[in-house]
Amino acid sequence: MADLLVAGALIVDGTGAPGRAGSVVVSGDRIDAVLEPDAPEPAVARRIDGRGLVLTPGFVDAHSHADATPFVEPAMDSMLRQGVTTLVVGNCGTSAFPPSDLDEVAALAGAREDDLGEPWRTFDGYLERVQACEPALNVAALVGHGSLRLAALEDQRRAPRPDEAAAMSALLEDALEQGAVGLSTGLIYAPGIHASTDEIAELAGAMARRGGVYASHVRGEGRTVFDAVSECIEIGRRAGVPSHVSHLKVEGPSMWGRVEELLELLDHTRATGADVTADQYPYTAWETTLAAALPPWITAEELPALRTDPAARGRLLIEIERGGPSAEGVGPTLGWDRVVIGSHVPAPDLTGRTIADLAEERGARAAETVVELLLADPNTGMVGHGMHEDDVRVIVARADVLVGTDGVAIGPDGPLGAFAVHPRYYGTFPRVLGRYVREEQVLSLEDAVRKMTSLPARRFGLAGRGTIEPGAFADLVLFDPLRVADRATYERPHAFARGIDVVVVNGRVAWDGSTGERAGRALRRG
Ligand code: ZN
Ligand code: CU
Repeated sequence: MADLLVAGALIVDGTGAPGRAGSVVVSGDRIDAVLEPDAPEPAVARRIDGRGLVLTPGFVDAHSHADATPFVEPAMDSMLRQGVTTLVVGNCGTSAFPPSDLDEVAALAGAREDDLGEPWRTFDGYLERVQACEPALNVAALVGHGSLRLAALEDQRRAPRPDEAAAMSALLEDALEQGAVGLSTGLIYAPGIHASTDEIAELAGAMARRGGVYASHVRGEGRTVFDAVSECIEIGRRAGVPSHVSHLKVEGPSMWGRVEELLELLDHTRATGADVTADQYPYTAWETTLAAALPPWITAEELPALRTDPAARGRLLIEIERGGPSAEGVGPTLGWDRVVIGSHVPAPDLTGRTIADLAEERGARAAETVVELLLADPNTGMVGHGMHEDDVRVIVARADVLVGTDGVAIGPDGPLGAFAVHPRYYGTFPRVLGRYVREEQVLSLEDAVRKMTSLPARRFGLAGRGTIEPGAFADLVLFDPLRVADRATYERPHAFARGIDVVVVNGRVAWDGSTGERAGRALRRG
């Protein structure tokens, strides 16, 4: 007797092929058979009626920061209830392996370093610990260049010496051998901001033989985005590895309308034989730490030292206001009236205020206000309302751009429940299906599902996942195409998506209106 039957659904199998009516039989962790509508039903332990609903492979979140989530929030509700069954973590240069930046990794999930227990020594050790947490979803991991750099270099403001570069490569090679899916960089953040193109291209070369993707939060997403994306492509080309642009966008009013040019750049690159892809979260605001407004020569933690150095403080304020020689800056790109305070632990009531508005109230310069906030809380979060809806829509429409939340998996009662998070943590995938497929029809259901399933599974080497076919892992989502929608907003971000009726992970029902089994696995490449 088979374990599970989803009967009479519209099956959209993840390949981009037109949806067709049928039933899916699951035995153990695999899809046993895909049945025609009139085929006799086998005897099963559990039958789910799929009539009027769409059955697809589980969604793969191509861009996640949930490295520490299994340790503090293994139920992973915000992602599970979007239909996500696999998370690709370790993005933007910061990862749990090597364990050199665990306070940051923990903070992203609303956790403390202590919550992670004894640090692991190998990539495999990290995956084993993830598995031991029994997460609800599958987890695959990139290795962060920033974490490699912190493990290998004492002084982050210079280039690695040859022995340090060799140490970074060795750590990456070991991780790749143990199943890491690639290398990520975060080139607007410390320490990635100090790395040259040469340094990264050399390091990425470690993937040429072992496989893996170079995924980058590029050096600028506003005025410098064309150069920044070109650098990402160049690194892939020089290293002989696939390159991937994280959370593709153009930021700042002066850049609006130019996203087509950026996509042409990707198309052109592909036409020359290079392998480049991207991912996106379908929103017009981004979220990060306010420390991103600082120039490369100082971190939020180092700000107190400036109290006794007025010259440096003056230079800092000017660079925050104008951008620096090697970084375009947050305020100069967006305008301070588009920069909203996300989280600020010492004064939560500042959440939702813009920097421009707060500066005016305090009779201070915007840059001074930024510094004051970071002095009070170096982890102050920000939301930048920097993109235009037309540009977002153009990227959504692209069948070849993957979908990523750029978030962590959370629940309203978990460690991040009290914080103002970005609505993408709860709404990304249903927003594509509800707003962009059903309401605005900017892409077909089949194309949308493909870019959420088989494309990312292939990109990150997740064998046996991303399609509905006999023998594939039974990661499945059953949703109502007429109801599916995101409900989280910037004002009320902790709101679960609607219309996702059943989620199956490795053959187990993880969600069916109430939380089910936690059957996620730590995944290794290939
Ligand atoms: Zn990023
Ligand atoms: Cu990210």
